[in-house]
Amino acid sequence: MDFKEQILEGIPTELPALKPYPSNANRAPKRKDILSLEEKQLAIRNALRYFPKQWHEELAKEFAQELKTYGRIYMHRFKPAYKIYARPIDEYPAKCKQAAAIMLMINNNLDNAVAQHPEELITYGGNGAVFQNWAQYLLTMQYLSMMTDEQTLHMYSGHPMGLFPSSKNAPRVVVTNGMMIPNYSKPNDWEKFNALGVTQYGQMTAGSFMYIGPQGIVHGTTITVMNAFRKILPEGESPAGKIFLTAGLGGMSGAQPKAGNIAGCITICAEVNPKAATKRYEQGWVDVLIDNMDSLVLRVKQAKEKNEVVSIAFIGNIVDVWERFDVEDIFIHLGSDQTSLHIPWTGGYYPVGISYEESNRLISEDPEAFKEKVQASLRRHAAAINKHNSKGTYFFDYGNAFLLEASRAGADIMAENKIDFKYASYVQDILGPMCFDYGFGPFRWVCTSGNPADLDKTDQIAMDVLEKMIAQSPKEIQLQMQDNIIWIKDAKKNKLVVGSQARILYADAEGRFKIADAFNKAVAAGEIGAIVIGRDHHDVSGTDSPYRETSNIYDGSKFTADMAIHNVIGDSFRGATWVSIHNGGGVGWGEVINGGFGMLLDGTEAAAERLKSMIFYDVNNGIARRSWARNEEALFAIKREMERTPSLKVTLPNLVDDNILKNLF
Ligand SMILES: NC(=O)c1ccc[n+]([C@@H]2O[C@H](COP(=O)([O-])OP(=O)(O)OC[C@H]3O[C@@H](n4cnc5c(N)ncnc54)[C@H](O)[C@@H]3O)[C@@H](O)[C@H]2O)c1
Repeated sequence: MDFKEQILEGIPTELPALKPYPSNANRAPKRKDILSLEEKQLAIRNALRYFPKQWHEELAKEFAQELKTYGRIYMHRFKPAYKIYARPIDEYPAKCKQAAAIMLMINNNLDNAVAQHPEELITYGGNGAVFQNWAQYLLTMQYLSMMTDEQTLHMYSGHPMGLFPSSKNAPRVVVTNGMMIPNYSKPNDWEKFNALGVTQYGQMTAGSFMYIGPQGIVHGTTITVMNAFRKILPEGESPAGKIFLTAGLGGMSGAQPKAGNIAGCITICAEVNPKAATKRYEQGWVDVLIDNMDSLVLRVKQAKEKNEVVSIAFIGNIVDVWERFDVEDIFIHLGSDQTSLHIPWTGGYYPVGISYEESNRLISEDPEAFKEKVQASLRRHAAAINKHNSKGTYFFDYGNAFLLEASRAGADIMAENKIDFKYASYVQDILGPMCFDYGFGPFRWVCTSGNPADLDKTDQIAMDVLEKMIAQSPKEIQLQMQDNIIWIKDAKKNKLVVGSQARILYADAEGRFKIADAFNKAVAAGEIGAIVIGRDHHDVSGTDSPYRETSNIYDGSKFTADMAIHNVIGDSFRGATWVSIHNGGGVGWGEVINGGFGMLLDGTEAAAERLKSMIFYDVNNGIARRSWARNEEALFAIKREMERTPSLKVTLPNLVDDNILKNLF
């Protein structure tokens, strides 16, 4: 059977042969054995729902074995034999183009070159799943292949509940991931309900099919590193020869060395997993690979002496690097961390002092002992950072829950007021005030033709739009506009594509609309194939996350999630092709609600209309909320938008004089 026939078949009519896992696969860690005997039976019963009765006896044994060996039932036997990658849109069997575009995006998220643990359907972040198992994948692709322009597929945490009649203007797919009754949102709840097969952790762009490889994050990371250097260096001084020390070369963290190179500094990135480090090195995302501490020290000293711009991957534990650099008195200008501390107990963070293999053994065999090791390591980690900070290092939390987990571990990380952390997060200091509050966020697009020439054309279109816009832009956003023009000019040269022909570009509401509108016109003119637009959830409006995206909201509302919910509902009736809303992602299960959208630009008038209404709301919803929280930059942006758009009427805050509050209580 060819690719199309296999998609149309869905769950095969004949039981496929059992196959071994590929020997070189980067496997997800074994998950916690958390289910009781009855619950294990329930997990098997749940899994067998996807298959005809006559297979049950055989599959029950197999799934029980998977549950025992991996802590989850992935149904590996049903992984299709065809190569999964972002095939051009015309290669999918589909009755409607929007559905074919969604298939392309799903396949990209599961591509071996893109996904972190493709066998387990995990795209990034250690647990960011597209589906819980291969049966869900097969069924979803089949539904998409039969869907018309007047149906909507509703997906519950990877499970395709079914196609429901809707309308041309409705989203084709509505995705929820990990949505729980709030009291059941603790990390162990994820372990349990995921093992039962009734929920999953969709991260941000994994379960919403909008992941575009580490490029998606390179741009944001570049902006962050560049602006962090601007914060600490005298005006005009170059970051060349100055050190940025961090950890993680995984899904998103793998973007750090590249961002460091673009920002023009020395990046040292520790990574305990040799496979992850080697993958990034082979992909050309990091310049040098070192597995020995003495060689690292030598190479770094040399780079400093020569004022180099270079990125170095160190295979080892980040805590060892912080400590050794203190002993060697190597000055670190910028420090951060991108280990997966949103899942500290299941392999997101590897403790110092024990081997990678030993950690993996403890995770499954002695989770309590592992937890203690992680917490002790975090205390040591923070102590070493504090030493560097006292010498002048600027450390910022990279939204991976480092400060949160370090504080929970009792590390010396709290400010004097015992409420705040000693260090700011990158959103509090940099991305929030400089980008999100003005509406700048990680807009992205994918060329569904799969043709690199289309990507070149879209880069050029986006650059032309921005260059026209900058001439009219107020001084408050000139720097952001300039950074983005440089980014898009160099994007091709920086060889950012892994997987689909995609591009990320930070842009504000006006920029996103104008760029997308120009794309739609180019599609209509036959200059390029259809384009999918979307964004990371990590954005102005999509995400309520008190320690990350909304950490610079200071009116007390950062622990609410109204903005993300309004965003997904608002986008869905304004014309998104698909929408998603997730619990978890980035900082952890129960710690964030985040949403996103995808939209197909097929060159039609209808697409132009949908675009206008949806992009406007998608960005300005968040600016309105940020301005209500009294954020100066957002107040500026929303007032400007109201001048431009008379039908927009946003409630503005009245600012209170501090003196009025002084002796009240
Ligand atoms: N860049 C951003 O803007 C940004 C945005 C969102 C999230 N984050 C957060 O960053 C974290 C990382 O994301 P990811 O997708 O790269 O996850 P990932 O799990 O793919 O990568 C993390 C890597 O850290 C390594 N690691 C763990 N402990 C280590 C240690 N002690 N020393 C050295 N290496 C260690 C792991 O082996 C893994 O490869 C997540 O918590 C994510 O939410 C970053």
